[in-house]
Amino acid sequence: MTNNGLYIHVPFCLSKCIYCDFVSFACCEDKFEQYVNALCNEIKSYRQKCENKVFDTVYMGGGTPSVLPTFLIRKIADTVKQNFYIDKNAEWTIEVNPATVDLQKGNELFQIGFNRVSVGMQSADDKTLQFLGRAHNKHQFEQTIKTFKQAGFKNINADFILGLPGQTKQIVKDTANYLNNLEVIHISAYSLIVEKGTPLSKMIKQGKIVLPDDDFTVDLYDTFAQEVKKVGFERYEVSNFAKEGFKSQHNENCWKYKEYLGVGLNSQSFMFGKRFANIKTLDKYIQKANEKKSVVSWSQ
Ligand SMILES: C[S@@+](CC[C@H](N)C(=O)[O-])C[C@H]1O[C@@H](n2cnc3c(N)ncnc32)[C@H](O)[C@@H]1O
Ligand code: SF4
Repeated sequence: MTNNGLYIHVPFCLSKCIYCDFVSFACCEDKFEQYVNALCNEIKSYRQKCENKVFDTVYMGGGTPSVLPTFLIRKIADTVKQNFYIDKNAEWTIEVNPATVDLQKGNELFQIGFNRVSVGMQSADDKTLQFLGRAHNKHQFEQTIKTFKQAGFKNINADFILGLPGQTKQIVKDTANYLNNLEVIHISAYSLIVEKGTPLSKMIKQGKIVLPDDDFTVDLYDTFAQEVKKVGFERYEVSNFAKEGFKSQHNENCWKYKEYLGVGLNSQSFMFGKRFANIKTLDKYIQKANEKKSVVSWSQ
Protein backbone atom coordinates (compact mmCIF):
# COMPACT_ATOMS: atom_id res chain seq x y z
CA MET A 1 0.00 0.00 0.00
CA THR A 2 1.25 3.49 -0.82
CA ASN A 3 -0.04 6.88 0.30
CA ASN A 4 -1.29 9.14 -2.44
CA GLY A 5 -3.17 12.37 -3.12
CA LEU A 6 -6.36 12.80 -5.09
CA TYR A 7 -7.10 16.05 -6.96
CA ILE A 8 -10.59 16.69 -8.37
CA HIS A 9 -11.05 19.55 -10.84
CA VAL A 10 -14.30 21.51 -11.01
CA PRO A 11 -14.00 24.00 -13.90
CA PHE A 12 -16.80 26.46 -13.07
CA CYS A 13 -16.70 29.94 -11.53
CA LEU A 14 -19.14 32.75 -10.73
CA SER A 15 -17.10 35.21 -12.79
CA LYS A 16 -13.76 35.12 -14.58
CA CYS A 17 -11.10 37.14 -12.74
CA ILE A 18 -8.92 39.37 -14.93
CA TYR A 19 -5.65 37.65 -13.96
CA CYS A 20 -6.69 34.00 -14.09
CA ASP A 21 -5.92 31.46 -16.81
CA PHE A 22 -6.97 28.33 -14.93
CA VAL A 23 -9.24 26.08 -16.99
CA SER A 24 -12.52 27.43 -15.64
CA PHE A 25 -15.67 28.93 -17.12
CA ALA A 26 -18.08 31.52 -15.74
CA CYS A 27 -21.06 29.96 -17.43
CA CYS A 28 -22.70 26.66 -18.16
CA GLU A 29 -24.92 26.01 -15.16
CA ASP A 30 -26.80 23.72 -17.51
CA LYS A 31 -23.64 21.59 -17.76
CA PHE A 32 -22.99 21.14 -14.02
CA GLU A 33 -24.84 17.85 -13.76
CA GLN A 34 -23.48 16.39 -17.02
CA TYR A 35 -19.97 17.34 -15.91
CA VAL A 36 -20.37 15.72 -12.50
CA ASN A 37 -21.72 12.53 -14.10
CA ALA A 38 -18.71 12.46 -16.43
CA LEU A 39 -16.35 13.10 -13.51
CA CYS A 40 -17.92 10.26 -11.52
CA ASN A 41 -17.46 7.93 -14.50
CA GLU A 42 -13.80 8.89 -14.67
CA ILE A 43 -13.38 8.26 -10.92
CA LYS A 44 -15.00 4.82 -11.26
CA SER A 45 -12.66 3.97 -14.14
CA TYR A 46 -9.71 4.07 -11.70
CA ARG A 47 -11.25 1.74 -9.12
CA GLN A 48 -9.30 -1.39 -10.07
CA LYS A 49 -6.05 0.38 -10.88
CA CYS A 50 -6.06 2.03 -7.45
CA GLU A 51 -6.94 -1.07 -5.44
CA ASN A 52 -3.57 -1.10 -3.67
CA LYS A 53 -3.48 2.63 -2.97
CA VAL A 54 -4.45 4.64 0.09
CA PHE A 55 -5.34 8.28 -0.43
CA ASP A 56 -4.49 10.53 2.50
CA THR A 57 -5.50 13.80 0.84
CA VAL A 58 -8.52 14.68 -1.26
CA TYR A 59 -8.43 18.15 -2.82
CA MET A 60 -11.42 19.53 -4.72
CA GLY A 61 -10.17 22.57 -6.63
CA GLY A 62 -10.88 24.58 -9.70
CA GLY A 63 -12.32 26.79 -10.78
CA THR A 64 -14.62 27.17 -7.82
CA PRO A 65 -16.11 23.84 -6.67
CA SER A 66 -18.43 25.61 -4.24
CA VAL A 67 -20.51 26.96 -7.16
CA LEU A 68 -21.90 23.45 -7.55
CA PRO A 69 -25.09 22.70 -5.63
CA THR A 70 -24.45 20.56 -2.56
CA PHE A 71 -26.11 17.46 -3.98
CA LEU A 72 -23.55 17.39 -6.81
CA ILE A 73 -20.59 17.94 -4.44
CA ARG A 74 -21.97 15.10 -2.32
CA LYS A 75 -22.29 12.89 -5.38
CA ILE A 76 -18.60 13.42 -6.22
CA ALA A 77 -17.53 12.76 -2.61
CA ASP A 78 -19.68 9.62 -2.38
CA THR A 79 -18.23 8.29 -5.64
CA VAL A 80 -14.72 8.89 -4.30
CA LYS A 81 -15.51 7.06 -1.04
CA GLN A 82 -17.13 4.14 -2.88
CA ASN A 83 -14.28 3.62 -5.33
CA PHE A 84 -11.06 4.51 -3.49
CA TYR A 85 -9.60 3.64 -0.14
CA ILE A 86 -9.49 6.99 1.66
CA ASP A 87 -7.57 7.09 4.93
CA LYS A 88 -9.89 7.78 7.86
CA ASN A 89 -7.70 10.75 8.89
CA ALA A 90 -7.41 12.09 5.35
CA GLU A 91 -7.32 15.83 4.73
CA TRP A 92 -10.38 16.79 2.64
CA THR A 93 -10.08 20.29 1.16
CA ILE A 94 -12.54 22.25 -0.93
CA GLU A 95 -11.79 25.56 -2.67
CA VAL A 96 -14.45 28.15 -2.08
CA ASN A 97 -15.31 31.56 -3.39
CA PRO A 98 -16.74 33.85 -0.69
CA ALA A 99 -19.97 34.63 -2.50
CA THR A 100 -21.01 30.99 -2.77
CA VAL A 101 -21.62 29.63 0.73
CA ASP A 102 -24.22 30.17 3.43
CA LEU A 103 -24.45 28.40 6.81
CA GLN A 104 -26.56 25.57 5.44
CA LYS A 105 -24.03 24.87 2.70
CA GLY A 106 -21.14 25.18 5.18
CA ASN A 107 -22.83 22.63 7.46
CA GLU A 108 -23.46 20.29 4.52
CA LEU A 109 -19.85 20.49 3.33
CA PHE A 110 -18.68 19.61 6.84
CA GLN A 111 -21.15 16.75 7.03
CA ILE A 112 -20.00 15.40 3.63
CA GLY A 113 -16.54 15.06 5.17
CA PHE A 114 -14.57 18.15 4.19
CA ASN A 115 -12.32 19.20 7.07
CA ARG A 116 -10.39 22.02 5.37
CA VAL A 117 -11.59 24.98 3.28
CA SER A 118 -9.55 27.24 1.09
CA VAL A 119 -11.24 30.60 0.61
CA GLY A 120 -10.17 32.93 -2.21
CA MET A 121 -9.82 36.38 -0.65
CA GLN A 122 -7.12 37.81 -2.98
CA SER A 123 -7.41 41.30 -1.50
CA ALA A 124 -9.00 42.89 1.56
CA ASP A 125 -9.87 46.04 -0.36
CA ASP A 126 -13.24 46.40 -2.10
CA LYS A 127 -12.00 48.59 -4.97
CA THR A 128 -9.21 46.11 -5.74
CA LEU A 129 -11.65 43.20 -5.62
CA GLN A 130 -13.88 44.98 -8.10
CA PHE A 131 -10.93 45.76 -10.37
CA LEU A 132 -9.89 42.08 -10.30
CA GLY A 133 -13.37 40.99 -11.38
CA ARG A 134 -14.02 39.14 -8.14
CA ALA A 135 -17.59 38.14 -7.41
CA HIS A 136 -17.39 39.15 -3.73
CA ASN A 137 -16.54 42.04 -1.44
CA LYS A 138 -14.62 42.23 1.84
CA HIS A 139 -17.75 41.90 3.97
CA GLN A 140 -18.77 38.70 2.15
CA PHE A 141 -15.30 37.28 2.75
CA GLU A 142 -15.60 37.97 6.49
CA GLN A 143 -19.08 36.44 6.58
CA THR A 144 -17.77 33.33 4.80
CA ILE A 145 -15.00 32.83 7.36
CA LYS A 146 -17.54 33.24 10.19
CA THR A 147 -19.90 30.82 8.47
CA PHE A 148 -17.25 28.13 8.16
CA LYS A 149 -16.21 28.55 11.81
CA GLN A 150 -19.85 28.22 12.84
CA ALA A 151 -20.16 25.09 10.70
CA GLY A 152 -17.28 23.52 12.64
CA PHE A 153 -14.27 24.10 10.37
CA LYS A 154 -11.01 24.82 12.18
CA ASN A 155 -8.67 24.41 9.23
CA ILE A 156 -9.35 27.51 7.12
CA ASN A 157 -7.01 28.88 4.46
CA ALA A 158 -7.21 32.24 2.70
CA ASP A 159 -5.58 32.97 -0.67
CA PHE A 160 -4.00 36.40 -1.01
CA ILE A 161 -2.28 37.95 -4.05
CA LEU A 162 0.88 40.05 -3.66
CA GLY A 163 2.09 42.56 -6.25
CA LEU A 164 -1.30 44.02 -7.18
CA PRO A 165 -1.47 47.58 -8.55
CA GLY A 166 -1.35 50.15 -5.77
CA GLN A 167 -0.42 47.62 -3.07
CA THR A 168 1.84 49.12 -0.39
CA LYS A 169 3.87 47.61 2.45
CA GLN A 170 1.33 49.03 4.90
CA ILE A 171 -1.51 47.31 3.01
CA VAL A 172 0.17 43.90 3.17
CA LYS A 173 0.96 44.39 6.88
CA ASP A 174 -2.66 45.31 7.57
CA THR A 175 -3.85 42.30 5.55
CA ALA A 176 -1.62 39.95 7.58
CA ASN A 177 -3.18 41.22 10.83
CA TYR A 178 -6.68 41.30 9.38
CA LEU A 179 -6.45 37.59 8.47
CA ASN A 180 -4.96 36.71 11.83
CA ASN A 181 -7.76 38.55 13.64
CA LEU A 182 -10.30 36.57 11.64
CA GLU A 183 -8.56 33.41 12.97
CA VAL A 184 -7.59 32.14 9.55
CA ILE A 185 -4.86 29.59 10.33
CA HIS A 186 -3.31 29.06 6.90
CA ILE A 187 -2.47 31.64 4.24
CA SER A 188 -1.39 31.08 0.66
CA ALA A 189 0.22 34.32 -0.52
CA TYR A 190 0.90 34.18 -4.26
CA SER A 191 2.87 36.73 -6.24
CA LEU A 192 0.77 37.97 -9.14
CA ILE A 193 1.63 36.20 -12.40
CA VAL A 194 0.66 38.03 -15.57
CA GLU A 195 -0.69 35.21 -17.70
CA LYS A 196 -0.70 35.62 -21.48
CA GLY A 197 -4.07 36.35 -23.05
CA THR A 198 -5.78 37.44 -19.82
CA PRO A 199 -7.56 40.82 -19.60
CA LEU A 200 -4.87 41.83 -17.08
CA SER A 201 -2.10 41.22 -19.59
CA LYS A 202 -3.96 43.27 -22.22
CA MET A 203 -4.44 46.20 -19.80
CA ILE A 204 -0.72 46.20 -19.07
CA LYS A 205 0.20 46.11 -22.77
CA GLN A 206 -2.16 49.02 -23.43
CA GLY A 207 -0.54 50.99 -20.57
CA LYS A 208 -3.83 51.19 -18.69
CA ILE A 209 -2.26 49.93 -15.47
CA VAL A 210 1.22 49.66 -14.04
CA LEU A 211 2.24 46.86 -11.70
CA PRO A 212 4.80 47.22 -8.92
CA ASP A 213 8.25 46.20 -10.20
CA ASP A 214 9.74 42.81 -9.25
CA ASP A 215 12.00 44.24 -6.52
CA PHE A 216 9.09 45.95 -4.84
CA THR A 217 6.99 42.77 -5.06
CA VAL A 218 9.81 40.90 -3.30
CA ASP A 219 9.76 43.62 -0.61
CA LEU A 220 6.00 43.17 -0.26
CA TYR A 221 6.48 39.42 0.13
CA ASP A 222 9.19 39.91 2.80
CA THR A 223 7.05 42.44 4.64
CA PHE A 224 4.11 40.05 4.62
CA ALA A 225 6.24 37.08 5.72
CA GLN A 226 7.68 39.08 8.65
CA GLU A 227 4.28 40.34 9.74
CA VAL A 228 2.60 36.93 9.76
CA LYS A 229 5.60 35.45 11.57
CA LYS A 230 5.03 37.94 14.41
CA VAL A 231 1.57 36.46 14.94
CA GLY A 232 2.66 32.83 14.85
CA PHE A 233 2.60 31.70 11.24
CA GLU A 234 5.43 29.49 10.01
CA ARG A 235 6.45 29.79 6.38
CA TYR A 236 6.76 26.15 5.29
CA GLU A 237 6.85 26.62 1.50
CA VAL A 238 7.44 29.53 -0.84
CA SER A 239 3.86 30.77 -0.76
CA ASN A 240 2.41 28.96 2.24
CA PHE A 241 2.17 30.04 5.86
CA ALA A 242 0.53 28.02 8.63
CA LYS A 243 -0.10 28.07 12.35
CA GLU A 244 1.32 25.09 14.22
CA GLY A 245 -0.34 21.83 13.22
CA PHE A 246 -2.06 23.29 10.16
CA LYS A 247 0.37 22.78 7.28
CA SER A 248 -1.51 21.53 4.25
CA GLN A 249 -0.89 17.84 3.73
CA HIS A 250 -1.87 18.26 0.08
CA ASN A 251 0.83 20.91 -0.48
CA GLU A 252 3.42 18.91 1.44
CA ASN A 253 2.74 15.76 -0.60
CA CYS A 254 3.29 17.67 -3.86
CA TRP A 255 6.64 18.98 -2.64
CA LYS A 256 7.67 15.51 -1.45
CA TYR A 257 7.00 14.09 -4.95
CA LYS A 258 4.36 11.72 -3.62
CA GLU A 259 2.14 10.31 -6.35
CA TYR A 260 -1.22 11.98 -6.98
CA LEU A 261 -4.14 11.24 -9.24
CA GLY A 262 -5.94 14.14 -10.91
CA VAL A 263 -9.47 13.67 -12.20
CA GLY A 264 -11.63 16.10 -14.14
CA LEU A 265 -11.09 18.51 -17.00
CA ASN A 266 -7.42 19.28 -17.73
CA SER A 267 -6.27 17.67 -14.45
CA GLN A 268 -2.65 16.57 -14.20
CA SER A 269 -1.48 13.31 -12.62
CA PHE A 270 1.74 11.75 -11.42
CA MET A 271 0.62 8.19 -10.82
CA PHE A 272 1.51 4.59 -11.65
CA GLY A 273 5.10 5.84 -12.22
CA LYS A 274 4.19 8.27 -15.02
CA ARG A 275 2.86 11.75 -15.67
CA PHE A 276 -0.34 12.29 -17.63
CA ALA A 277 -2.99 14.96 -18.24
CA ASN A 278 -6.64 15.08 -19.23
CA ILE A 279 -8.23 16.83 -22.19
CA LYS A 280 -9.04 20.56 -21.93
CA THR A 281 -12.28 20.87 -23.87
CA LEU A 282 -15.36 20.70 -21.68
CA ASP A 283 -17.78 19.14 -24.15
CA LYS A 284 -15.22 16.60 -25.34
CA TYR A 285 -14.44 15.62 -21.73
CA ILE A 286 -18.13 15.17 -20.91
CA GLN A 287 -18.79 13.16 -24.05
CA LYS A 288 -15.79 10.84 -23.71
CA ALA A 289 -16.20 10.18 -19.99
CA ASN A 290 -19.90 9.50 -20.43
CA GLU A 291 -19.09 7.03 -23.20
CA LYS A 292 -16.67 5.43 -20.67
CA LYS A 293 -13.69 6.24 -22.91
CA SER A 294 -10.31 7.46 -21.69
CA VAL A 295 -10.09 11.21 -21.14
CA VAL A 296 -6.29 11.25 -20.98
CA SER A 297 -4.81 13.43 -23.74
CA TRP A 298 -1.13 13.22 -22.92
CA SER A 299 1.25 10.98 -20.99
CA GLN A 300 4.96 10.39 -20.61
C1 LIG B 1 -7.80 27.98 -8.74
S1 LIG B 1 -7.87 29.35 -7.76
C2 LIG B 1 -9.15 28.71 -6.69
C3 LIG B 1 -9.81 29.66 -5.75
C4 LIG B 1 -11.16 30.18 -6.13
N1 LIG B 1 -11.47 29.90 -7.50
C5 LIG B 1 -11.13 31.66 -5.93
O1 LIG B 1 -10.45 32.32 -6.73
O2 LIG B 1 -11.75 32.15 -5.00
C6 LIG B 1 -6.48 29.21 -6.69
C7 LIG B 1 -5.74 30.48 -6.38
O3 LIG B 1 -4.76 30.74 -7.37
C8 LIG B 1 -4.39 32.10 -7.26
N2 LIG B 1 -4.17 32.62 -8.62
C9 LIG B 1 -4.88 32.35 -9.72
N3 LIG B 1 -4.35 33.01 -10.79
C10 LIG B 1 -3.27 33.69 -10.33
C11 LIG B 1 -2.30 34.56 -10.94
N4 LIG B 1 -2.35 34.86 -12.23
N5 LIG B 1 -1.32 35.07 -10.15
C12 LIG B 1 -1.26 34.77 -8.83
N6 LIG B 1 -2.16 33.97 -8.21
C13 LIG B 1 -3.15 33.44 -8.94
C14 LIG B 1 -5.51 32.83 -6.53
O4 LIG B 1 -5.03 33.28 -5.30
C15 LIG B 1 -6.55 31.74 -6.35
O5 LIG B 1 -7.24 31.86 -5.14
S1 SF4 C 1 -9.20 32.99 -9.54
FE1 SF4 C 1 -10.67 31.46 -8.91
S2 SF4 C 1 -12.70 32.48 -9.16
FE2 SF4 C 1 -11.24 33.67 -10.33
S3 SF4 C 1 -11.43 32.83 -12.40
FE3 SF4 C 1 -9.68 31.80 -11.39
S4 SF4 C 1 -10.52 29.95 -10.57
FE4 SF4 C 1 -12.26 31.32 -11.02
